[in-house]
Amino acid sequence: MCEAIINKIKQLKKEHNAVILAHNYVASELQDIADVLGDSLQLSIEASKLGAPVIVFCGVSFMAETAKILSPNSKVLLPVKTAGCPMADMATGEAVAEFRRTHPDYVLVAYVNSTAAVKAEVDICCTSANAEKIVAPIPRDKKIMFLPDRNLGRNVAKALNREMEFWPGYCPIHNAITVADVEAIKQENPGMEFLVHPECTPEVVALADKAMSTGGMLKYIRESDKQAFIVGTECGIMHRLRIENPTKTLIPFKPTPTCTDMKKLGLADVLACLEAPMENNPYEVVLDEELMDRARKPIERMLQFK
Ligand code: 13P
Ligand code: SF4
Repeated sequence: MCEAIINKIKQLKKEHNAVILAHNYVASELQDIADVLGDSLQLSIEASKLGAPVIVFCGVSFMAETAKILSPNSKVLLPVKTAGCPMADMATGEAVAEFRRTHPDYVLVAYVNSTAAVKAEVDICCTSANAEKIVAPIPRDKKIMFLPDRNLGRNVAKALNREMEFWPGYCPIHNAITVADVEAIKQENPGMEFLVHPECTPEVVALADKAMSTGGMLKYIRESDKQAFIVGTECGIMHRLRIENPTKTLIPFKPTPTCTDMKKLGLADVLACLEAPMENNPYEVVLDEELMDRARKPIERMLQFK
């Protein structure tokens, strides 16, 4: 059954000259058919240089929007239109525009986990992989509003030892990782290296050996001499980690962090979006041209920081 769907997807991909991008958190069967699998930064970079006529984005809506903004001539398909990001929805374009109007002296830094409408209002974007690099060169006398993730913002401010203000948003999955759960899992697994995502609270990050993006964790574990790791992020990453590190001990955090939005997509959804007529495809991400032009600027500013 699975094989039949995969073969059909491969055939339609060829017919439409399509490429499949997938985030490290999506279901394993989607990771296995992806042409590019990565973290938000890696996927943004790929989207900016692909030039493929059709991009199928296995991830959530803000990622597919970013791909569309960076590849405006491609048809970007999001196989499940309701796959969103609760944190991205915690900041609206209107609220950010209002902040900008009432605080003209602030530099607005938006995590890419934000809607296109929010990106259109800010100065620069960042991901969890480059947030410190993006904020560091902003002159110290400038006020900064970091949005929408207060946790990533607080972690960056702490690392750079600078004053910043934070939008009151958070990732419900990473924010739910508690100090008590961290202490328990570390006690059960002494000597294991503990990695977390910087969307966790600073209190949790303080207990970790390293805080990194999903791409950073994959690279770190692959290249490390250490043999055992507790992985403090969404459970989808475990699939690729286990393939790449068959001899290492890798345990997911407990209780298992699971993003229900990332898990909304399956093989049948990818097939459905490739089977739908490409003209007026119901899965297509459609954004206003003028909005895309405004949202592209802060993303391009970010991409200049390689
Ligand atoms: P990264 O893959 O960029 O670390 O992002 C994590 C995330 O929460 C994406 O939704
Ligand atoms: Fe959004 Fe968190 Fe899910 Fe990432 S893991 S898509 S930040 S809710």
